[in-house]
Amino acid sequence: MPLETTDITELAEACAAKHPQEILKLAFEVYSPNVALSFSGAEDVALVDMASKIGRRFRVFTLDTGRLHAETHQFLEKVRERYGIPIEVYFPRPEAVEKLVREKGLFSFYRDGHKECCDIRKVEPLKRALATLGAWVTGQRRDQSPGTRAAVPVVQLDPTFSLPGRELVKFNPLANWTSAQVWDYIRLNQVPYNPLHERGFVSIGCEPCTRAILPGEHERAGRWWWEDATKKECGLHAGNHEATRS
Ligand code: ADX
Ligand code: SF4
Repeated sequence: MPLETTDITELAEACAAKHPQEILKLAFEVYSPNVALSFSGAEDVALVDMASKIGRRFRVFTLDTGRLHAETHQFLEKVRERYGIPIEVYFPRPEAVEKLVREKGLFSFYRDGHKECCDIRKVEPLKRALATLGAWVTGQRRDQSPGTRAAVPVVQLDPTFSLPGRELVKFNPLANWTSAQVWDYIRLNQVPYNPLHERGFVSIGCEPCTRAILPGEHERAGRWWWEDATKKECGLHAGNHEATRS
């Protein structure tokens, strides 16, 4: 019997200890068509593959910041073709980007932090994407960041983007999986992956703010490497800070 509740405690119970694909199935049962996967073009492609195996239409969106690697663009296209799915692409507001770049240049984030640029290029477009949804699905995992993601639950009321009278549910089906499990899944199921992963990139974001890492470095060490490790969230998952502290 499909689950129909939108009660977060019941959803959490239903999701506990389930395989990520089962969690996705449940998210679709309860929220389709008002649920979508938020796909970054990195190893979260495993979720796209799992969703395709559930056998019903599903939605995927991506935030094209205008600063992604060419390889990520090519990969997004590959995923679109391989799975035969439309990808809902959200771009930043041109006026906001033009103003930022006119006033501060193209690399202001190296001087005064990534927040301003991420707000314009990622967070505002994300808000527009979420306005069409009752629930979204991310590829966040606890092992991605001991600092900010250690307490990420499999399902939660979105701590950042829920509005008064308009609750938004956030599914993180991979929360309890390790990076190794995700990569085992990708290999076993012959899932296509971003070729940057073959060149030492583990976590992949925008080109100027992502670098390859060395053996032994933590995977998010290659993101905003010039900033404090506790600030390595861009606003998409800013609420993790509160969740981790509580
Ligand atoms: S980030 O906040 O630091 O950029 P990260 O790269 O770890 O996030 O990705 C975690 C999850 O956030 C992804 O699996 C995806 O669900 C979502 N996400 C991150 N970047 C994007 C993007 N550009 N477009 C869509 N979703 C994204
Ligand atoms: Fe801008 Fe870097 Fe944030 Fe991308 S990751 S939106 S380039 S600051």
